[in-house]
Amino acid sequence: MCMRGNAALDLTMPTITVAPHSGYCFGVKRAVEKAEGLLNAGTKIATLGPVIHNPQMVKRLAGLGAVVIDSPQDAPPGYTVLIRAHGVGKHVYDELERLGIPYADATCPDVRRVHTIAAEQSAMGKVILIAGERTHPEVIGTIGHISGEWHCFSSLAELGEIAEKHSLSRQKSCVLLAQTTFNASEWKKCRDFAKNVYTNLTVFDTICNATILRQNEAARLARESDVMVVVGGKDSSNTVKLAQVCRGHCRTFHIEGPESLSGIRLEGAQRIGVTAGASTPAFIIKEVHKIMSDVLNHPEEESFEEMLDSSFKTIHTGERVKATVTNVGPNEIAVEVGTKQSGYIPMNEFTDDPNAKLSELVAVGDELELLVQRVNDVEGTAMLSKKRLDAMAGFEKVMAAADTEEILEGVVVEIVKGGLLALTSGVRVFIPASQATVARGQELEPMLRQKVSFRILEVNRQRRRAVGSIRAALREQNRALEAKFWEAAAVGNIYNGAVKSLTSYGAFVDLGGVDGMVHISELSWSRVKHPSDVLAIGDIVEVYIKDIDPEKKKISLGYKKTEDNPWEVLRSKYAAGDTAAVEIVSLTPFGAFARLIPGVDGLIHVSQISTERVEKPGDVLKTGQEVDVLITGIDYEKKRVSLSIRALLEAQNANRETENAEDTDGGLVYEAAPPEVGEAPDQEEPAGEDV
Ligand code: F3S
Repeated sequence: MCMRGNAALDLTMPTITVAPHSGYCFGVKRAVEKAEGLLNAGTKIATLGPVIHNPQMVKRLAGLGAVVIDSPQDAPPGYTVLIRAHGVGKHVYDELERLGIPYADATCPDVRRVHTIAAEQSAMGKVILIAGERTHPEVIGTIGHISGEWHCFSSLAELGEIAEKHSLSRQKSCVLLAQTTFNASEWKKCRDFAKNVYTNLTVFDTICNATILRQNEAARLARESDVMVVVGGKDSSNTVKLAQVCRGHCRTFHIEGPESLSGIRLEGAQRIGVTAGASTPAFIIKEVHKIMSDVLNHPEEESFEEMLDSSFKTIHTGERVKATVTNVGPNEIAVEVGTKQSGYIPMNEFTDDPNAKLSELVAVGDELELLVQRVNDVEGTAMLSKKRLDAMAGFEKVMAAADTEEILEGVVVEIVKGGLLALTSGVRVFIPASQATVARGQELEPMLRQKVSFRILEVNRQRRRAVGSIRAALREQNRALEAKFWEAAAVGNIYNGAVKSLTSYGAFVDLGGVDGMVHISELSWSRVKHPSDVLAIGDIVEVYIKDIDPEKKKISLGYKKTEDNPWEVLRSKYAAGDTAAVEIVSLTPFGAFARLIPGVDGLIHVSQISTERVEKPGDVLKTGQEVDVLITGIDYEKKRVSLSIRALLEAQNANRETENAEDTDGGLVYEAAPPEVGEAPDQEEPAGEDV
């Protein structure tokens, strides 16, 4: 049997010949592809009338979510209106614009040409004569572009009536054009008649090439056949015309698809021809041919009905199917689904990981459960997805988590307007900005690709959308951490925590679910004007619990360390009787304060500044000056240090005198009395600075 072209005649077996130009014409193919493209891109479409005159294809598009409407006003909100290949009148475009409805225009370019001619010629005042079906959508669209007088006829007889009835118009400038799918031989008759009757006539041959070719082929095949089977919608004007053409030559059956085959009789037919209208999908023609071939070649085995039953095992978009892997390529997996379609899974429908190697994930012979994503009956393929089926299972999990309040984990995959999207078990959960961070107004960008925990707040089962909250999950996690903290909290416990905030009176440190406060006086051994002099938000600090009040949930923290206490440092470095180089830091009427070590200043009483009498410390010393002193006393309890320049000088003088005496006595050595180290001067007045 040949599918296309003529086969050599076999006298024992009937032949079936399919006309080469059967099925979709260019304009219909373009419109169907446009509709499928929009639907697959997630655009909701409403078609102004069925996209094509084929019930199976209309059903298939409806399965993908397309709705059919009669006028722009019927378009549901959020839908894009698709203008089909037949085109529409000018007022429809105007209405779409007025209502602000988005639309996609799939008008066939050949039809658009007719509309343009009609609009331009009528604008010039010419009468438009249309050869076509008055009620056909294409003709209605053409009339919708005419601004003046027009007449429509579907046969030579009707044209004759019009010419008679509107005899005055015959003297006017007239234009003759045709519906693109008008019967070619009838057109010739009408054209010849019009040329004779209308005195000022311009003819535009607007029957499209696809139609002419199809009708010529059908006529030739019908002449050579005993029976013609014309496949296509009963509403399809061009299919009806094909059947008319064929009936002129042999017994002809017009069927919509293989399901109508059981109603036809092929007995005695040796040569069977098949043709199909411009809106008949290839898979229907293929199916008709296959069933006819099988029945005619094996009449004893199966009837049309039985063949039909088995051939209609098909799959549909959205269906779950079991499939066996037959081949694993680098970017695609081929599967057998047990139907007439060849199944395949593109890599991005199998995994989210663009670097994954499919051969490491799946092997030939593996059984997979998959979701039918798209069925292309023209090509006989079905695109399947594992990822989406997983996502469906994931959505069940998300819905369950909404009920059980389970905390889910996911990864932030996108920052979107108003929040972010987190992916969990293949489901994208929207997290509003107000629920994405602990504090409002925090930047979301740093969260991209980060792992997050969240609780599901809301699920829309129909729209398969879920809303989550990271903040709610954090609150819950904090509550658990808080309870754990209080179980173990005790004075003296040491923690490493992050500084969360600073106030004028101290720093708040996160201890893990609970905040404690370090009072400003606890931040340093030195005087501190503001906590920010010592700490910054985000610093990780080691703190210890100084005091806790579990009732009021208050925790006082200590931050200063004993080893940093300057009085301890002093104890390790100096003792009374030591000398030291110090810097004068302030002057008072009763003496000068000098810095011994950071955090400890000692007093040089005015009487201890010099061996001479000093009226005022400022007469001898100035701040910033470095002097050598003798540490004459350290009182750790009162935190006071007494220093003396005078005692040091006297000791030095005494030493010198001793040395001089040694020289004078010819080398005799006397044991020198120790220099008298002055007691710490009375520091009733401001004492050494407490730190
Ligand atoms: Fe266009 Fe001709 Fe088809 S006009 S829609 S290509 S029949």
